[in-house]
Amino acid sequence: MGAGIVEVFARNGIPVVAVEISEAALERGRAHLTGSTDRAVARGKLAEADRDALLGRVTFAVGLDALRSVDLVVEAVPERLDLKRRLFAELDRICRPEAILATNTSSLSVTEIAVATTRPAQVIGLHFFNPAPVMKLVEVVRTVVTSADVVADVEALCGRLGKVDVTIGDRAGFIANALLFGYLNQAIGMYEARYASREDIDAAMKLGCGLPMGPLALLDLIGLDTAYEILETMYRRGGRDRRHAPVPLLRQMVTAGLLGRKSGRGFYTYERPGSAKLVPDEHTPNPADGAGREIAKVGVVGTGPLAAGLAEHLAKAGYQVVPATADVLAPLADVDLVVEAVDDEPYAKTAVLAGLDEVCQPGVVLATTTSTLPVIELAMATGRPADVVGLHFFGPDAAGPLVEIVRTIRTSAQTTDTARALSAALGRTGVVCGDRAGFIVNALLFPYLNDAVRMLEAGYSTVEDIDHAMKLGCGCPSGPFELLRTVGLEVALTIQRRLYQESREPGLAPAPLLEQLVTAHAEV
Ligand SMILES: NC(=O)c1ccc[n+]([C@@H]2O[C@H](COP(=O)([O-])OP(=O)(O)OC[C@H]3O[C@@H](n4cnc5c(N)ncnc54)[C@H](O)[C@@H]3O)[C@@H](O)[C@H]2O)c1
Repeated sequence: MGAGIVEVFARNGIPVVAVEISEAALERGRAHLTGSTDRAVARGKLAEADRDALLGRVTFAVGLDALRSVDLVVEAVPERLDLKRRLFAELDRICRPEAILATNTSSLSVTEIAVATTRPAQVIGLHFFNPAPVMKLVEVVRTVVTSADVVADVEALCGRLGKVDVTIGDRAGFIANALLFGYLNQAIGMYEARYASREDIDAAMKLGCGLPMGPLALLDLIGLDTAYEILETMYRRGGRDRRHAPVPLLRQMVTAGLLGRKSGRGFYTYERPGSAKLVPDEHTPNPADGAGREIAKVGVVGTGPLAAGLAEHLAKAGYQVVPATADVLAPLADVDLVVEAVDDEPYAKTAVLAGLDEVCQPGVVLATTTSTLPVIELAMATGRPADVVGLHFFGPDAAGPLVEIVRTIRTSAQTTDTARALSAALGRTGVVCGDRAGFIVNALLFPYLNDAVRMLEAGYSTVEDIDHAMKLGCGCPSGPFELLRTVGLEVALTIQRRLYQESREPGLAPAPLLEQLVTAHAEV
């Protein structure tokens, strides 16, 4: 983060003194800066002369003495309170009395850092996002003692840096990380529980929500040690919400030196430390594995937009499509696979699955598009649960690029492979996951939306600033409240209730404000 922040200042014409703890660390920082600016030149985003001018504005030094005459310090040392407090006490001694001391902490109390100095009114949070040169947002964190002049100066500085700032109080995780880290931690939990593979979790969130990267790839970028410290602090400061208690695997990975991109290995393996380039490892799926059964003729049951959309996409992909209704399943006697897309209602779905069991030949794959029922309940309505799989398409007519393939505890590997091959033939990315409420996408997305409603309810920030923070700080295509408006509050509440009822996780209980808005037929 330090190197990224140096680049932001230097790029905007401001001379910077880049300080590290040792020559080796300074060299790493310098390499990060030159690597980043060289890439910007190669991509045509920065002229060579501007790159040289940028680098000319940076002085590199080991030790804090080089900071005697600066106007502002941005601290970006590891996320540990004792370390930051010691550093600020030292900066307070070394820097000019007028200098502003800012911390880039993600989760620690800016107030506790400020009171380690004799100038707490001049201490402020200046929280950049990773990668700092790219992400537009800066969270400006004022404590109860930060002076109004300092806040105004720092806000003006953000403008000079081409950043958009939101100014907020001193609460664990501020806006963006308070919403992001519950989601990231939950994704680690899914991976740890082998609910889905790392590739599938990441692909699901990229394609299902339009995010620039999946959660596990993002954790590798953030650094797993930093992520661990942030979660620990958020758990302690943020009301001991179990959603923030670091998943045990994270600690194990940090202990094992798997820190993400910076060490060359985290959830994924990279070409070398500091590189963004992925290389295959022992967990990389082999595309040649498991082709599944040969499928030529596909039955589609249902009369709604999903069934119609599916029939059209399947036909375009070259399958022979046999349409059927829930009442008349006889035409499906000789198909290889059936997708049922009737009303998502237990009685209707169970009846269709039982009917298909009677009509279809042995070995036919029976796929259900349910998004609200456990797939195993439908599978057990047949005498062949090994052949039953969930296929959760996105968009009302299945036009989305993602398909969640839900394998129950009885689904055979061959059935799952067949579903993956079908998804690929449809030009969709199929991700395989377990049979739990919300599958991958909704299970990760809706608790995050619910957390945003809770934050609003607590009066910490506004709808606009929360939306802004998530778009500009995390690259979300829309803010949580924009998304809630698109999805509909009632749908969001129904999904959240199901997630809560299944997990009984207190942190997943629907936000009271969400319940009230739905009861009052109000918008947010
Ligand atoms: N990683 C992210 O995505 C991210 C995003 C926003 C904010 N932050 C925050 O930025 C801070 C740094 O995080 P990071 O991920 O860059 O950590 P990091 O561990 O990658 O880098 C920390 C750097 O601080 C240096 N350092 C340690 N002690 C020092 C000292 N006494 N003086 C000078 N330098 C010292 C280390 O040598 C190291 O290079 C943390 O507070 C973190 O919460 C991180």
